[in-house]
Order: sequence, then C-alpha cells, then structure tokens
Amino acid sequence: MTAPAPTIRLAVDVDARPIAVMSRCLIEVGLRGWSWSPERVLSALHHREHCVAVAEVNGEIAGFAIGEFGDDKLHLNLLAVAGAHQRQGIGRALMAWLEQSALTAGITEIQLELRATNQVARLFYQSLGFAFVRTVPRYYRSEEAAIKMQRRIGLEAASLPPQLIEKLLNKIK
Ligand SMILES: CC(C)(COP(=O)(O)OP(=O)(O)OC[C@H]1O[C@@H](n2cnc3c(N)ncnc32)[C@H](O)[C@@H]1OP(=O)(O)O)[C@@H](O)C(=O)NCCC(=O)NCCS
Repeated sequence: MTAPAPTIRLAVDVDARPIAVMSRCLIEVGLRGWSWSPERVLSALHHREHCVAVAEVNGEIAGFAIGEFGDDKLHLNLLAVAGAHQRQGIGRALMAWLEQSALTAGITEIQLELRATNQVARLFYQSLGFAFVRTVPRYYRSEEAAIKMQRRIGLEAASLPPQLIEKLLNKIK
C-alpha cells in the first residue's frame, strides 16, 4: 500500500514544541544542549525572514523544515522527517515546497550544513542535486564538523555553460 501524500503548511505556535523535540531527537542527537529549543523555534516562527513548514500525515506532524531567507540565498536551518515516515518522499516534498517559496522570493541558491557523520542526509541532499562545498571543523558546539552543501535554483541553475552557448551560436552562424 502506498503511503498517504503529506499536506505541507506553514507552522503555527502549537507546532513549536513538537518541531523542537524532533530537532533534539533526530538532528541534535548526541550533541551537548538543545540548540533548537521550543522557544527558539517559536521565535523563528514569528521572524519575518524565517519560514517554518510542517508536513502532516493523517493530521500528525511527520516532518518539518526551517529556512532563513536572505537577499538571494535561502539557508536551510533544519529539516527532519519522523522515523516512521522516512523514505516516503516527505523530505523531498518539504524541500520542493521551500524551493517554490524561495523562487517566488527571487532566491537563486539554497545553502545548508549537515553533520559530517550524517551519511543518510548527505545522500538525501545529493539526490536533490546539492553539491559538496567544504567541510567546516568544529561547526557544531565547537566539537563536531559540518559539511556545507549548496544548489542553484531557478533559471540560473538551468542556464547553459558559456562554452556550450558559444558552440551552439557558431553552429547557427
Ligand atoms: C534526511 C531526511 C530528512 C530524508 O527525509 P526522507 O523523507 O526520508 O527522504 P525522501 O523519502 O524524500 O528521500 C528522497 C531521496 O533521498 C535519498 N535517501 C533518503 N533516505 C535515504 C537513505 N536512508 N539511504 C539512502 N538514500 C536515501 C534517496 O535517493 C531518496 O529517493 P528514493 O527513496 O526515491 O530512492 C530523513 O532521513 C531525516 O529526517 N533524517 C534525520 C534528520 C536529518 O538527518 N536531517 C537532515 C540534516 S539537518
């Protein structure tokens, strides 16, 4: 049986705690302290440059994403899908939703960091076309390394390399 499609919507205040708990258990697990506490998630929810989206399945939160909009870049702060709902396309759907919002806002690039040890997340982002940028030592709590990844979006991402354009123009001449 195929899994029901998630509904993606903007988060509201009551979502702050479940989102923070998912961050603690799925993303920050093993790190000192609780960086994305309910208070911090709530504050992101009310911050005009942040976008907090949740994916619901049968009325329950199955995943969430928090993005921060700059002038031309979207920084993905957090993304997680609950264990029971993983590998059903929910992470991909959340990213597509954020990307659509970013395109509407004139954003041309999405950037993110992930824990260097998180192989699954790396495979996930690679499958969405994100490219490795660099490793940042001691990025998390001054202890653990992060990997930075990025992806161009929109028309710029689809544009052809200049050498190919020149080649095509020469053929027309
Ligand atoms: C990373 C994460 C968000 C992916 O979400 P998801 O909903 O399970 O991913 P999707 O089902 O949309 O997968 C999309 C593609 O990513 C890749 N992928 C996802 N999980 C994978 C895994 N366990 N192993 C290999 N590839 C994987 C696959 O290419 C997959 O496409 P396919 O299923 O058609 O083969 C989820 O595993 C998660 O929440 N992990 C814990 C928190 C985390 O690591 N967050 C990201 C760092 S902040």
